[in-house]
Amino acid sequence: MTAPLRIALAGLGTVGAGVIRLLEANGDLIAARAGRPIQVVAVCARDRGKDRGIDLAPYAWEDDMTALAARGDVDAVVELVGGSDGPALALARNALAGGKQFVTANKAMIAHHGMELATLAEEKGVALKYEAAVAGGIPVIKGLAEGAAANRIERVYGILNGTCNYILSQMESTGADFGDVLKDAQELGYAEADPTFDIEGVDAAHKLAILSAIAFGTAVDFAGVDTSGITRISAADIAQADALGHVIRLVGIADVQEEGGEPRLFQRVQPVLVDKEHPLAAVDGPTNAVVAEGNFVGRLLFEGAGAGDGPTASAVVADLVDIARGNVTPPFSLPVSALAATAPADPGQRVNRAYIRFSVADRPGVLAEITAAMRDAGVSIESIIQHGHPADNGDEPVLVVMVTHDGPESAIASALAMLEGSPALTEAPLVMRLIG
Ligand code: NAP
Ligand code: HSE
Repeated sequence: MTAPLRIALAGLGTVGAGVIRLLEANGDLIAARAGRPIQVVAVCARDRGKDRGIDLAPYAWEDDMTALAARGDVDAVVELVGGSDGPALALARNALAGGKQFVTANKAMIAHHGMELATLAEEKGVALKYEAAVAGGIPVIKGLAEGAAANRIERVYGILNGTCNYILSQMESTGADFGDVLKDAQELGYAEADPTFDIEGVDAAHKLAILSAIAFGTAVDFAGVDTSGITRISAADIAQADALGHVIRLVGIADVQEEGGEPRLFQRVQPVLVDKEHPLAAVDGPTNAVVAEGNFVGRLLFEGAGAGDGPTASAVVADLVDIARGNVTPPFSLPVSALAATAPADPGQRVNRAYIRFSVADRPGVLAEITAAMRDAGVSIESIIQHGHPADNGDEPVLVVMVTHDGPESAIASALAMLEGSPALTEAPLVMRLIG
């Protein structure tokens, strides 16, 4: 058998320890498939004394992770630390500049610095691979870049954050509180080091920006993702969605459409109401699902575990197998110079049905004020429900939930602008689109 692929591992947390366990458990199978063994040579984490449930004795230990890139006995560096900048980025730059193959699960770094790192990888003729960065264990990067390479991808969308999906589906099935479910997701190893990245939609936006580049051949544009998270979703919204035959999911969606004769990239991460008949409605727990629509293959659905040690390690090691086999392809499927910088689309032109939840003072004229704003902005209302309080609780705000007919988002934005500052509203309205 040929010489092993010698790797250095930075980060021994949920994913890093998972990679070591996987290589130990399936080493022979992996060596047979890769054509050579994958051998861990050196590792690094912050705390050398921490019990990680794995034996680190066979591996050299480095206190400074950037030192991994300088080791002469290493062919590939694997970064499983996290953070868009700081030590992870320094390691990536050093490893690639030094001609080492590089694998990471770090979507934040790829979303922010992927173009720079891909340029470096191309210059040095080495791999930059990040299958685990998008949708955990699902081989969606490979699926789009290789399996669907013959297609023009029209649209890509899906559930890209396991933590949010776990929280929403647990709230839905158990009626549990947001905070308690978030704590469970952290304990299960799904959440980012800073969980606000999960619940505010930032993690899903990182992944969507990467997917867009692969799917449409556009330059990675994280800043262009219109992002909102799930922190405002209440038990009342979940119950209301259920009554309307929907579930609430955090969904990322991207496409490229012409505006004024120019291609424009639309990228959005937002909680949406998904019709219970739609395939995404059945995706629960930390599961992710990505739908890609190709002009010859049709609709592809990739589904699987989006977070956790085993699934994420599976994707990291798949990248290593690729490298061991000598598969070095452009990191974003096209050479960096061919990735087209594409201006963001105008979301106002999108046509959707929308769910709008108002929290209002329970007094005469409030509904009339809201519906007048909708009328004046040209928003057509499909249904409207007010949940009143008993008479002895009349000072409490009440919820008014409206579903609109299909219409441009700019019309809803104008209606809400008219209502801004109205004493009738006790908080900003929450708007969610309906899909399915
Ligand atoms: P984690 O459990 O917090 O592990 C991070 C590891 O990095 C720890 O071993 C930590 O050391 C080490 N570390 C942190 N700062 C360091 C430094 N300055 N120098 C050396 N080591 C340092 O994180 P994780 O969940 O495994 O995530 C790792 C990466 O994978 C992140 O980019 C994340 O976004 C990505 N990812 C995670 C998942 C998932 O399900 N968890 C899924 C897909 C992608 P100590 O252990 O000594 O503290
Ligand atoms: N925090 C991420 C999630 C990990 O919950 O999906 C997988 O990328």
